[in-house]
Amino acid sequence: MGMEIETTEEGLLARAPAKLNLHLSVSPPRADGYHDIDSIFQAVSLYDEIRFAPAAGDEISLVEDGIAEAERNLVYRAAVLLRDLGRARGKECGGVRISLCKHIPFGSGLGGGSSDAAATLVSLNRIWGIGATRDDLVALGARLGSDVPFFLFGGTARCRGRGELVTPLHDLFDAAEPLHYAILAPAIHVPTPQVYAALDRLRPRGIALTQTSVIDSIAPVDLLELSAKGAVFSNDLEMAAYRLFPELEEIASRMRQEPFLSVRMTGSGSALFGLCRSAQEAARLTDRLRAQLGENVRVRVFGVQSLPGLRWTDRDGSARRR
Ligand code: C5P
Repeated sequence: MGMEIETTEEGLLARAPAKLNLHLSVSPPRADGYHDIDSIFQAVSLYDEIRFAPAAGDEISLVEDGIAEAERNLVYRAAVLLRDLGRARGKECGGVRISLCKHIPFGSGLGGGSSDAAATLVSLNRIWGIGATRDDLVALGARLGSDVPFFLFGGTARCRGRGELVTPLHDLFDAAEPLHYAILAPAIHVPTPQVYAALDRLRPRGIALTQTSVIDSIAPVDLLELSAKGAVFSNDLEMAAYRLFPELEEIASRMRQEPFLSVRMTGSGSALFGLCRSAQEAARLTDRLRAQLGENVRVRVFGVQSLPGLRWTDRDGSARRR
């Protein structure tokens, strides 16, 4: 399922999903240093878990896997930003204890930190009774990171601007069967700004963006069929990441020996994913890759499926699975 929030004895438990970039084209750098992108994001079934418990006083505390976390953490920053909004609207917004259990590898292009931040906005909006709309949370999310707004929609979406301008696509094909992917996440933390900078160095100035026109020329309703075939799409950041971390290209080559419909990097890496023909094939390929890669390379292998989008109820500011 997509971002899921359930009531527990202590408060709320949120499950924050990972994402894959099925397509990612990148423009030359803007005046503010960011790059305009044109990307298709897909939420997938690999989750972090975040627990929220109201606490006495007004302190926001965050523990990650049992360890007290620095205030730089995106979850903490999301909580502070939402509390400011709530208090500006006259809500009390008392203390809360947050504990984060990570399963999505960090620095892998799978969007774990951004998804955690989005789940925090939605959960605390409910706990504090702020009644913020999705648009309110999207605006806060965009201040936290370019990928945060996507996770307030989930499912499949086209994301433009620096990533924060989200057009959901899942309404077009919600009834479709899920797609199955194998994700290989090497123990390499890729610094996103360095990958964008490496791409700028690799490219002549003012290069024309052929990939953007590829997406522009496709009717949105046909994107599903193309996604299912792994066709047309690409990721401009791949060549830059492979230049910085040649071992990623070796893993991609290894994956291309298997019968995946397509093999691609997600975001700025380091995770790679292969599209499988079926759930059975995904299980078989993940088992095989795990057995082969597990011994000498530090690579984690996950089998995941695509997730439907969230249904949003502005009345109570809550997100539910479609
Ligand atoms: O928005 P976020 O904080 O996730 O971005 C991290 C870094 O990635 C930015 O500081 C920037 O260097 C790079 N970035 C970019 N263009 C984007 C998204 C991110 O250059 N569209």
